[in-house]
Amino acid sequence: MTTIDALCADARVLVTCGTGGVGKTSVAAALGVRAAQLGRRVCVITIDPAKRLADAIGLTNDLGNEPQQVVTDSIGELWVTMLDVRETFDNLVRSTSPTPERAREVMDNSFYRNLSRSISGTRDYMAAERLYELSNDERFDLIIVDTPPSRNALDFLESPERLARFLKHPIVRLLIAPSRGGFRIANAALTPVLKLISNIVGSDALSGVAAFLKAFDGMENEFSRRALAVADTLRSDKTGFVVVTAPSPDALKEADHFVSELKRLGITLKMIVANRMPPRFGSTTSTAEHLAATASSGDIALAHALLAELCEDAERAEAGINGFLARAEEKFAGVPSSTATEMPSDIHDMESIVVLAQQLAAPQPRQ
Ligand SMILES: Nc1ncnc2c1ncn2[C@@H]1O[C@H](COP(=O)(O)OP(=O)(O)OP(=O)(O)O)[C@@H](O)[C@H]1O
Ligand SMILES: [Mg+2]
Repeated sequence: MTTIDALCADARVLVTCGTGGVGKTSVAAALGVRAAQLGRRVCVITIDPAKRLADAIGLTNDLGNEPQQVVTDSIGELWVTMLDVRETFDNLVRSTSPTPERAREVMDNSFYRNLSRSISGTRDYMAAERLYELSNDERFDLIIVDTPPSRNALDFLESPERLARFLKHPIVRLLIAPSRGGFRIANAALTPVLKLISNIVGSDALSGVAAFLKAFDGMENEFSRRALAVADTLRSDKTGFVVVTAPSPDALKEADHFVSELKRLGITLKMIVANRMPPRFGSTTSTAEHLAATASSGDIALAHALLAELCEDAERAEAGINGFLARAEEKFAGVPSSTATEMPSDIHDMESIVVLAQQLAAPQPRQ
């Protein structure tokens, strides 16, 4: 069994990460296809608000928070979904609230509405929460997460613990405590907590925060429990992080960053995918070809020159990837890799995803 197959057959969660445009979404879909071919029931979730996942597999409709099954000829199942931050947050409030009235009170709160719409932190936390839900959803036995093209794409890994810490903060406890009802948000003593909140929600709109936290009373334990459960899942043996890169110097530099981030977070890198590699046409070092090229003229000479250029491109790309693999190896000894070539056209349909899956699953020279 090749390593990609081993990963697709065994993992409970796979996460693709890497810099913009290297093929994270296409690779996530291809891994999904491969795992479905191996008989697994897979759900690929994109936490990128861009609509590329639907486009990559040739779906014409938009993806929503509810997974949608894709027709494949595999023995397993392939489902796809796109994170909807608001819907995930509302569902979380509904499922942790003691009564429907309390859920409504939280959802009507202006601070909550801001929180669930605000950009960075909430998105990260909801990505983790959605992953918790999907990984506990009996319809699926593998969840593949496609991350957005940001340098901070792995922040969502830390968000559950950050949220749990935040909810345990003494000032948050104080705000939640009913006996301290008169405590005012404008109090100067709250400055650190305001900072904490704005770190988490990425928003300065803090009006109504105390009312929100009170309506929220009692729900925070379940929030924390789920947040910590997902943090455990992300660090478990059954979760595999896949760094995707292309051979360009910029992509490789960013791939180094992702490898270092995983190391810092104490998470094992399970696989490297070198995508968009130029196809191999032979070697420029062949003496016979070199002699033939110098001895020929006209179109033949031109063809030789062109071929030599393509070979040099491929060699440069391979050298770049090999350098990166050696650096990754220093941090994660024995990390396997898989390669896919740049296809003649963009990936916009299931057939190309299937070809990409085949390439990734094919035996690799380095294995
Ligand atoms: N092996 C390949 N051959 C040809 N085109 C590819 C290949 N892999 C990816 N592409 C193309 O590169 C572009 C980016 O691919 P994709 O959306 O999968 O990357 P991404 O890393 O998810 O991008 P983003 O960072 O924007 O989320 C797409 O137009 C896709 O068709
Ligand atoms: Mg993408």
